[in-house]
Amino acid sequence: MKSNCCWVPSDDKNAPWCTYTSNSDYTIVQHGLLNSNSGFAKLTRPDHPTWPDTLANLFFQIDRQLFSETSFVDRLQITDSSNSRHRHTEKPIFIANSTFVPEIKDGEKLGKDYLTGPLIFSDQFIEFSIPLDPASPLYGVGERRGPLVVPRDGWAHSIWTRDVPPIVNLNLYGDQPVFLIGNTGYIFWNSNGKQFQAFKDRMTIRSLGGMIDLFIVRGNSTENAVSLIQEIIGATYSPPEWAFGYHLCRWGYNSSDETWSVNQKMREAKMPQEVQWNDIDYMDGKKDFTIDQDAFASLPQVINDIHANGQKYVLIIDPAISTTANYYPYVNGIGEDIFIKDETGAPAVGEVWPGATVFPDFTHPNSNNYWLEMLSFLYTQGVEFDGIWIDMNEPSNFVAGSSKGCPISSLNSPKFELPVVDKSLFAKTLCPSYNQIGGTHYDLHNLYGLHETKATSYALKALNSDLKPFILSRSTALTSGRHAAHWTGDNFSKWEDLKYSITAMVNLNIFGIKMAGVDVCGFQGPNAEEEMCVRWHQMGVFLYSFFRNHNTIGAPGQEPFVWSSKGQDAIRIALEKRVELVPYLSSTFKTESMFIRPIWNSTIDTQFWVGRNIMVCPILGPAMQFLDCFFPEAGNWCNVFETNSCVQVDSGNPIRRIETEMNSIPAFYAPKTATILQKKAMTLTKARQLPLDLVLNLKNGEAEGEVVFDDGETVNSESLLLKITVKNSLLKLSCETDSKSKKNLESKLKRNLNIGQIIKTGSSFNDSKLRFNSGNLFLNKNLLVLTEFCSKEYEIYLQ
Ligand code: GLC
Repeated sequence: MKSNCCWVPSDDKNAPWCTYTSNSDYTIVQHGLLNSNSGFAKLTRPDHPTWPDTLANLFFQIDRQLFSETSFVDRLQITDSSNSRHRHTEKPIFIANSTFVPEIKDGEKLGKDYLTGPLIFSDQFIEFSIPLDPASPLYGVGERRGPLVVPRDGWAHSIWTRDVPPIVNLNLYGDQPVFLIGNTGYIFWNSNGKQFQAFKDRMTIRSLGGMIDLFIVRGNSTENAVSLIQEIIGATYSPPEWAFGYHLCRWGYNSSDETWSVNQKMREAKMPQEVQWNDIDYMDGKKDFTIDQDAFASLPQVINDIHANGQKYVLIIDPAISTTANYYPYVNGIGEDIFIKDETGAPAVGEVWPGATVFPDFTHPNSNNYWLEMLSFLYTQGVEFDGIWIDMNEPSNFVAGSSKGCPISSLNSPKFELPVVDKSLFAKTLCPSYNQIGGTHYDLHNLYGLHETKATSYALKALNSDLKPFILSRSTALTSGRHAAHWTGDNFSKWEDLKYSITAMVNLNIFGIKMAGVDVCGFQGPNAEEEMCVRWHQMGVFLYSFFRNHNTIGAPGQEPFVWSSKGQDAIRIALEKRVELVPYLSSTFKTESMFIRPIWNSTIDTQFWVGRNIMVCPILGPAMQFLDCFFPEAGNWCNVFETNSCVQVDSGNPIRRIETEMNSIPAFYAPKTATILQKKAMTLTKARQLPLDLVLNLKNGEAEGEVVFDDGETVNSESLLLKITVKNSLLKLSCETDSKSKKNLESKLKRNLNIGQIIKTGSSFNDSKLRFNSGNLFLNKNLLVLTEFCSKEYEIYLQ
């Protein structure tokens, strides 16, 4: 009680020390309209017993952006009225556009509609609470590991980017201050260290600085709220299509020969593989932008061979730069004065893989060009990479703060002790008091990975302005979904990690990071077991837009070809299914705000939807002979692996017991869906040359679906949208294209645009019974020429 706050009983040792209930709120002394979209208020505070340094005068502003009659976003900003405060460096996409009169009266306490309880606003501690609907499930709340629906019992989660394996309730790699409840979403646009605490009726938010910049997103459905969140954040990253293929990586491919032989073994085992990766092993002494000239001398030739096989190559770069004398990236960076500074003004020295390192300041105006020069330097050594993996960018540092620790400072040890791993803001990272051009590391720490991502994106676009860049980043922040993919870091080879990856993917979609995955078969911990690795691949086909098998150093191999022939068969079937599904997956990515969706309005976190056509009940444990699967809708649900095997679901009986087998997991085409697949092949480039299939899962003679095709690699590719509808057994195909000329669409889109087979789930169509309203549609042995549909709508009678 010393601090006039109340203890909240909790078993969680990371729970905050106390919450405030005393009425110590600011009072409105003046209010009015700023313009027709915005209102303001000036506030003064009473003396605060615990926080004598709270700011005396605040400015409060509300703006509204209307999206439709029933959906809008309010932006609430509260900041110091006399001095400017740190703002998040990235701007939301928000244009106040609606006539809006805030209901504010002089003499009132601040809040009413937006806030509940007291507001505390001091230089290094801000606390406020938002009223929450007690009945709806709460989703999101930062990058975290745990159940999908957040408990509301005082559960607390801290955000301070950190290199740490994903463990329940720890602050992890990213800064994603976003949550969703009912039809309302919230984005706290603040980059400082912070904490969310969820109660039945409110969310309490505490921040170590900056200001309150809160977006309250009112959708007309939960999914509409997600798409509005994404509009504000800008979830615009559009990966190349090859990024949807299967990626193979590990730490410990010790030479270019070994890398080459892994790629060969995949080919020999007939395992589709799109991308080959290398970890830090390729570097000379683990120094960025160098190649180990002994073990990796033949890397350029290996990359050529990979390219000749229609595959891609990605390698890792860490941000920290070795201080080795005469090492060009260091010498050049010192010349450019590019590194983060310690309290003496000298580059701060820490330690990462190569030993002593310094850390580029990606808020430095020359950092983009510095990074471009370094990546070009790598490229000119014959390492013609197709994408870049940026790791260790929380930033990770193996010594606390720096090689000489951290000075005593309120920035390094603020009065509010944010409950973080190791109870220190500088554990495994730099001192918050260090300086970057854009401000203190205290304010910018959580943005380090995002700023590196932007520099990497700048560099890749400069290296090849036509191609869509591929970047994978471990640390993320608000707006990372404009630039890059993300994986969830150093997970474990445990069944539990399969399960929790469903929560992780749903949440990343809510945060606007749709290109996402986890290390398939697990990175560390126990050695991966065959059955788990098979099931993980089978689930990954659907769950991860970014689908990569990755493993730690020293662990036994977990590549598809190391398993028994039965295990290999099952993984091969899964990888082939992935290739078949890529048109659907990459199209879903473009047309839907959520690539992965949960079973909304339930607490089920063991199933998920990928797009609108496919729902998956993955196998999340060993030796399961059956599993109980919830079907959200009555109708015929047909297995994606075996279209003849369907489950007839009645509305009164939504849970059905499904028998399992080794070669597939329960994954179903939903009733009334039309899905375009491509034929299986060893690479996506090869699959593009083959005709497509159309799978119809009719309900009362009806189905619908759509697919977008483009060339999959260039930024300005033309595209084609194919719409499929079936009504009364009449199939209509229509297409729209942004191409100026419909001629040569196949070569412009670099793919075969014919449908070779129409598959009816549950049974098959008799081809000879398909009748067309135009005699000349059967061309080239029963192929439907899709480009024909761009000029006219065609109808096909299914019986
Ligand atoms: C980090 C990464 C991991 C990588 C390793 C070596 O632990 O998260 O994926 O393999 O560093 O670079």
